[in-house]
Amino acid sequence: MKKAIVYGVTGQDGSYLSELLLSKGYTVYGVTRRTSTPNTLRINYSLTQKQFHLTQGDVTDSGSIYRLLNEVQPDEVYNLAAQSHVGTSFEQPSLTWNVTAQGCMNILEVIRSMGNRPRFYQASSSEMFGDQYSLYGGEKYQDEHTKFNPQSPYGVAKLAAHHSVRLYRDSYGIFACGGILFNHESERRGESFVTRKISRYVSDLHWATQAGRSIPNLKLGNLAAKRDWGHAEDYVEAMWLMLQQEEPMDFVIATGKTYSIEDYLKEAFQCININEYTRHIEIDEKLKRPSEVPYLRGLAHKAKRRLNWKPKIDFKSLVKRMVQYDIQSCGRCNKGIKKAQ
Ligand code: NAP
Ligand code: GDD
Repeated sequence: MKKAIVYGVTGQDGSYLSELLLSKGYTVYGVTRRTSTPNTLRINYSLTQKQFHLTQGDVTDSGSIYRLLNEVQPDEVYNLAAQSHVGTSFEQPSLTWNVTAQGCMNILEVIRSMGNRPRFYQASSSEMFGDQYSLYGGEKYQDEHTKFNPQSPYGVAKLAAHHSVRLYRDSYGIFACGGILFNHESERRGESFVTRKISRYVSDLHWATQAGRSIPNLKLGNLAAKRDWGHAEDYVEAMWLMLQQEEPMDFVIATGKTYSIEDYLKEAFQCININEYTRHIEIDEKLKRPSEVPYLRGLAHKAKRRLNWKPKIDFKSLVKRMVQYDIQSCGRCNKGIKKAQ
């Protein structure tokens, strides 16, 4: 029976990854930060499983990493912990650096000191590719050979962590992989990311219309940016596959298709039969970033060849799943309120 430690277990990916590992018979140690109120909603299922253990820790605290890894002696460690919001990283760059860059280095250092070294997965990001327009002057796909040009404190921190993974792999022979994952979303996506912000709004609008009410417009920033969006459930499988290889290496994980925020809006509003979505949207300059990543489209040929990985959920199904989930959960909530009254 394998043992895995998951840092960032309360996040979108951490919750799906725990479920995947449990289904494969792993004992999972999920690490969560101390919070004043519980934030374990996404791992409700894992918490019911005998082989799941929730433990407190923080990637900025080397001592707690040292104690946990030495006590558990895991086979695999997944570092999904990060200040993961790109916009926030412009407001809190030092915190982003400490968690997102230094946190990875802290784990690598502990692994280096161990006798039985676990395999290590680092959540690297397509945000590291940054602005490819200024490098190549056009829309070009990104793969493992593409030059990095990060455009945010988050991207810079992720790139530092990514290089640390390569350095520790080459210098100390640690089995460490950087998964360069492109945007992946789900029904569990954080509500401040653009896809979930939109799916939640569409759901609110749906229920308000049913009740004959109106709601304020949805405020958004840059609608022209293009992203390669997949579903998180597909992407956590790639994380696990990377650590099952004979040789450690980095992989791009992506769908190969790209869509603008406007495309996502169109698709989401169509789920409630609204074609003219623009009258519900307001551009808020404050939501635009000081520096933007205009275009991401990844080619995951290496992952297909070596991991036999390919995404199962396409863009249309992703949007539909997110909107329908929000409509249904909001509907349950509305009914609950009515009953309580
Ligand atoms: P997420 O939902 O924001 O989850 C981030 C997790 O990190 C949360 O569990 C958070 O805990 C935890 N965390 C934050 N600071 C920490 C600290 N100091 N010590 C320990 N844990 C800490 O992010 P996600 O979408 O699941 O993404 C998972 C990872 O993949 C992140 O590293 C992200 O940067 C990276 N990534 C994501 C995407 C994507 O499109 N989703 C693409 C590429 C890379 P709390 O619950 O307490 O906040
Ligand atoms: N969050 C947000 N909120 N983004 C907006 C908004 C808004 O109101 N309006 C427009 N956008 C635009 C952003 O400027 C960006 O171009 C795009 O929507 C996507 O923004 P996010 O959903 O916040 O994701 P991201 O691409 O910046 O970062 C996500 O993907 C990275 C991988 O490329 C995060 O999950 C990162 O952690 C991840 O590494």
